[in-house]
Amino acid sequence: MDGMLSVVSYGLGTVLGLVVLGAILVLVIHDVTQKKHTVLRNFPVIGHLRFFFENLGEYFRQYFFAGDRAEMPFNRATRAWIYKSAKNEGGLIGFGSTNDRREPGSIIFVNHPFPVLEEDRLPTPSILIGDGYCKQPFEARSIVNISGMSFGAISEPAVRALSRGAAEAGCWMDTGEGGFSPYHGEGGCDVIMQIGTAKYGIRNHDGTFSAERAKELARHVKAFEIKLSQGAKPGKGGVLPGMKVTDEISRIRGIPAGYDSISPNRHHDIANVTELLDQVAYIRDLTGRPVGVKTAIGGWDFINDLCEEVLRRGHEYAPDFLAIDGGEGGSGAAPQTLMDHMALPIAEALPRAVDSLLQAGLKTRIRVVAAGKLVNSARAAWALCAGADFVNTARGFMFALGCIQALRCHTNTCPTGVTTHNKRLQRGLVVEEKYLRVANYCRNMNTEIDMIAHSCGCRHARELRREHVRIVQSADHSMALNMLAPYPVQGERPSPRAVDTPAAIEQKPTEALEKASVGPI
Ligand SMILES: Cc1cc2nc3c(=O)[nH]c(=O)nc-3n(C[C@H](O)[C@H](O)[C@H](O)COP(=O)(O)O)c2cc1C
Repeated sequence: MDGMLSVVSYGLGTVLGLVVLGAILVLVIHDVTQKKHTVLRNFPVIGHLRFFFENLGEYFRQYFFAGDRAEMPFNRATRAWIYKSAKNEGGLIGFGSTNDRREPGSIIFVNHPFPVLEEDRLPTPSILIGDGYCKQPFEARSIVNISGMSFGAISEPAVRALSRGAAEAGCWMDTGEGGFSPYHGEGGCDVIMQIGTAKYGIRNHDGTFSAERAKELARHVKAFEIKLSQGAKPGKGGVLPGMKVTDEISRIRGIPAGYDSISPNRHHDIANVTELLDQVAYIRDLTGRPVGVKTAIGGWDFINDLCEEVLRRGHEYAPDFLAIDGGEGGSGAAPQTLMDHMALPIAEALPRAVDSLLQAGLKTRIRVVAAGKLVNSARAAWALCAGADFVNTARGFMFALGCIQALRCHTNTCPTGVTTHNKRLQRGLVVEEKYLRVANYCRNMNTEIDMIAHSCGCRHARELRREHVRIVQSADHSMALNMLAPYPVQGERPSPRAVDTPAAIEQKPTEALEKASVGPI
């Protein structure tokens, strides 16, 4: 019996061994004859380990090897700050900070020797957008708000949790360029409807702007936003890979399902500042709602031209808000080259854009919204110091939803359900739990911005000014933002074309602003 067993097991072992050897032989032949991969041609079979470890390396680095302040786009310290804040567990740490304040670009706020007592503090006032220029101005209550992320780029449960969380916290939610879905309306929050270059969700069958749809949408949203560009990919329209264009998304956008959704790189009907202001005024009159413009900034001509044109035609043509997106902004899908190299970071773009508005006397007419990695209270407070009225964040809220920075938004395989339409993966994102995190994150951001303001001697966050923040230039040397980017004098407008001349580039403020750029987070 034993003899039988050993014959069988030897036989099976031999067959198995031969199968394995055969498979290896086939793999060797495949590897050395294929022409695509150099490593496999030269190192058959064993070369596959490289691909295996390359894939795993990302996770090993994130969990084991990368330092707390090392990763990009967001390091672990920043992510942990947001997660804690979203769970209402944030705020306190012990022993000491791991933030290196000697690093150029670090933000240091100017503490007041006699900070504001609790009884002297004031609630941060809300701001009316479009007041006096449209039938239904928008009262925006929260400093921190949800930046545009389209339904399509993000999932149904993500949109629902954001909508409910925004309603709870009192902030607005921007639809992004994918149109207004029923999920945006679910929580009853303030919604800003973005009009992207393809006019998804607000277009006729031929792709042109639909006035009828705009009027209908005006019943559900608080404002409209014409998107010229976003920081991650100026010069490139939205990209939603075909595998993410489900039947529902195709219906909402007005495009065929299953095909890549690629919007043009600019609006067909907006080719210059004059046409931009025409559209702003037209949509505002049509809908009775405020109309803003979202753009990344590459140089100063655009903003100066815009101000010149508004002054020439009248304040009623001005956009009601300007959402400035830093070149470091995120995207559901964008070419790496544009993400890496196109458009100015918010640290440089924001103070200069604000200066143009101040010089033109338009700063209270055109409200400024800033975005670009302003995901924690210190960065958001820096933006207020620089001149922003509001802060938008997309990825901050993604982290609040449970995003782990897997960097796979474009592949429909997001492991946390935030950017995938795969129902199995969406199971992990429980709306009833995550909407509370969205609300907590938003509230805690606002509370901490106020805390910074009080420490600086301001009664509320809207009193923060450039002199309240210093930017580290080199180890143990920082400069106040009002020295790096001095406030301009109203009326002393540079001629719109003179700003980017070589002579102007030599000028101090530009040099100083370059130094003022805020360092890695
Ligand atoms: C997943 C994802 C989708 C986005 N979709 C849009 C969009 O549809 N329209 C838009 O203007 N910006 C879009 N953005 C850009 C954000 O609105 C925001 O401007 C940018 O990410 C900077 O903010 P952040 O650094 O806080 O993420 C998207 C960003 C992400 C991460």
